[in-house]
Amino acid sequence: EKGGFEHFMLKEIFEQPKSVKDSMRGRISAEKGQIMLGGLREYLDKLTQAQRIIILGCGTSWHAGLVAEYIFEEYARIPVEVEYASEFRYRNPVINPEDIVIAISQSGETADTLAAIELAKSKGAVIFGVCNVVGASIPRATHAGAYTHAGPEIGVASTKAFTAQVTVLSMMAIVAAKSRGTISDKVYRELLTAFEDIPVKIQQALNSNAQIKYIADIFKDARNFLYLGRGYNFPVALEGALKLKEISYIHAEGYPAAEMKHGPIALIDEEMPVVFIATKDSSYEKIVSNIQEVRARKGRVIAVVTEGDQLIKQMAEFVIEIPATHEALTPILAVIPLQLLSYYIAVMRGCNVDQPRNLAKSVTVE
Ligand code: F6R
Repeated sequence: EKGGFEHFMLKEIFEQPKSVKDSMRGRISAEKGQIMLGGLREYLDKLTQAQRIIILGCGTSWHAGLVAEYIFEEYARIPVEVEYASEFRYRNPVINPEDIVIAISQSGETADTLAAIELAKSKGAVIFGVCNVVGASIPRATHAGAYTHAGPEIGVASTKAFTAQVTVLSMMAIVAAKSRGTISDKVYRELLTAFEDIPVKIQQALNSNAQIKYIADIFKDARNFLYLGRGYNFPVALEGALKLKEISYIHAEGYPAAEMKHGPIALIDEEMPVVFIATKDSSYEKIVSNIQEVRARKGRVIAVVTEGDQLIKQMAEFVIEIPATHEALTPILAVIPLQLLSYYIAVMRGCNVDQPRNLAKSVTVE
């Protein structure tokens, strides 16, 4: 049932070309210039007229929500707030009937997310779900939604669910942008084509497997890790750090790279591995100078870069290449090497990657 892989987590990482394709199946056609999310159709007007979007989730699902914030704001021009469900529900939040809530959950059973939905519903908000497990409690509690269709995720560390969540949320954002008229035809078409090309590019990103294993061996005994990214890739830094923490038990922190100088830079010495997500996008120049800052303090830089990047190759100790794509979709590719890195480090440390200590696949306690 592990399909020849040693662990479910590895199998699920390698399934991503297919699972992301499944999450788009029948929903997108670049040729026709169409994105259709059947489960949202009845509520499309609500989404189009939303004054605000509140995104709720926990853990990895919350990270997917953070990526969605960037794309919804950039293209649909709707203000977005991303909240931990567990904080939202206990703080008497301001919720209006013109607000749309998007609840994200792989399992569809996370207790805090479910309770946050019930609270928002009682205040009159329309609730959309982005869930993986069909018929679970959260999709049943929502007004509308779109399943991620990633297939069963068995490994406790969420991998293919994350890329499917980001895919579906990004499609939602582009649907909203199109119907609000806030996106140009040119960008709309570019994005549709970029979506269609993503599965093949995930496959290419997976080709760095051997190189990542090699890097994992070098850093497996580190006691701390820093993950840095900017813009769309800031949430990817958080997700990379979470993956490493939960399965290898190495302390890791994710930060927006620009925040480094406000504190975490003090941690950097010759023993500190710093993973940069440094793809060629609108924050490239800025992240290059962040890499220089780390190098100047002898930090050990591992950089996820866009294929063919020459500049960062000269600065970083190791680079891992991913294919170029539309900036808004880079998180789907950039997270792949980070999943693999955490996987190999955990295996080399003898950890039980599919069943990490103290963790459960769905958190039904509050
Ligand atoms: C991380 C992980 C957890 C979950 C979180 C939310 O790898 O698996 O952080 O993402 O417990 O779970 P769902 O998405 O099922 O609501």
